[in-house]
Amino acid sequence: MNVIMFLTKDEELILEGESGSVLARAMKLIVTIGDLKGAERLVAISRSQIAGVSYKTSGDPTLELMESLADEGVKVRTHATQNPAGMDLERWKDMKVSPQFAMKQLRICNAYKNLGIKPICTCTPYLSGNRPKLDEVVGFSESSAVAYVNSVIGARTNRHGGLDALSCALVGKVPLMGLLLNENRSGSVYVDIEFEPNDESDYAAIGYYTGKNLKTGEIPVFTGLKNASSDSLKLLGAAAAAAGSVGLFHVLDVTPEAKNKYLVKKWMIEERLNMDKKALKSVYDELSITETPDLVCLGCPHCSVNEVHEIAKKLEGRKVKRGINFWVYTSPNVYDESLKLGYVDTIRSSGGDVFRHTCMVVSPLEEMGFEKLISNSAKACFYVPRMTKGKSTCGLASQKQCVDEFSE
Ligand code: F3S
Repeated sequence: MNVIMFLTKDEELILEGESGSVLARAMKLIVTIGDLKGAERLVAISRSQIAGVSYKTSGDPTLELMESLADEGVKVRTHATQNPAGMDLERWKDMKVSPQFAMKQLRICNAYKNLGIKPICTCTPYLSGNRPKLDEVVGFSESSAVAYVNSVIGARTNRHGGLDALSCALVGKVPLMGLLLNENRSGSVYVDIEFEPNDESDYAAIGYYTGKNLKTGEIPVFTGLKNASSDSLKLLGAAAAAAGSVGLFHVLDVTPEAKNKYLVKKWMIEERLNMDKKALKSVYDELSITETPDLVCLGCPHCSVNEVHEIAKKLEGRKVKRGINFWVYTSPNVYDESLKLGYVDTIRSSGGDVFRHTCMVVSPLEEMGFEKLISNSAKACFYVPRMTKGKSTCGLASQKQCVDEFSE
């Protein structure tokens, strides 16, 4: 193989097959990507997030590939976690998932586990022990997690595909390029928010609007969001990454790089995008459903303990209306903590439920029989129709609206 970037002696040996054919192929993939994107060398990582876990999105080819890799006995060299699967790995029957789907899903998760990738199955690994530090370089492949760790934590990752994140995890290195480099992290367009967001879903709408209106590769710098919480920015980043290809955003005076006035001055931004109340309403109008939903779903990205608490407080003493399923999605770690604190029981007492390992987008909605959904996540609204070939739709509403309208 003709390699352009600099490789150490050890890296060359891996490429030549000294560590086995799987690692040689993984290294070849990483080096090819790095050479195409102009990387000068590889850099070591100690954390990974591996997407492509749901049987719904990855199917039999991924199942066969992962089982064959696991049979080779190779292991990842990083602290690696799995992205959401297509079901709660223990309570899949309660989600109305078929045994056929479930058996294949369990095999995929098991194959990843045998590769050394922890089956915590969440898109918020940064809330479950796989949280990088400021400036740490990692290899993440879930777009919402990429946006969060780059922007809110100030760590550094490119937007990897599932297979290249896995290759990087096996080798323990990523090409030094793109968002890992200082020069590619400058804000390029101010996004002026001309209203005070009322609810967390307004932040999701802001992300959606921004993703739709920016060109690929632009890095938004939000003004007017000084009160944004990390949970709100989680929703904003997920929507911006879904509707556009935003992998990094800054919020003036809030996110780590945008708190550095010296750095912000150097960005020399000339472009501006305004978002006013009319634009906000246009997002809610676009992401709306007229019929009564059969599934109210919160937790895209997976809920934090604070979000589960907020939902429990709102539902306390109320009952979910007949004919409506009210589901909350989160990671196993957040679930355990929320269970200890009594939030899960409160949600269940009201007729709702809390599931782990999965979400409304990567579970097989068609076979579960859900067609009309409501969520506070614009990312879910974006993907639900696309993942179900238009059979299901999802409207945008805040947690508060979901509780007020669909419980009594
Ligand atoms: Fe996570 Fe599923 Fe949303 S993977 S970001 S909850 S689409």
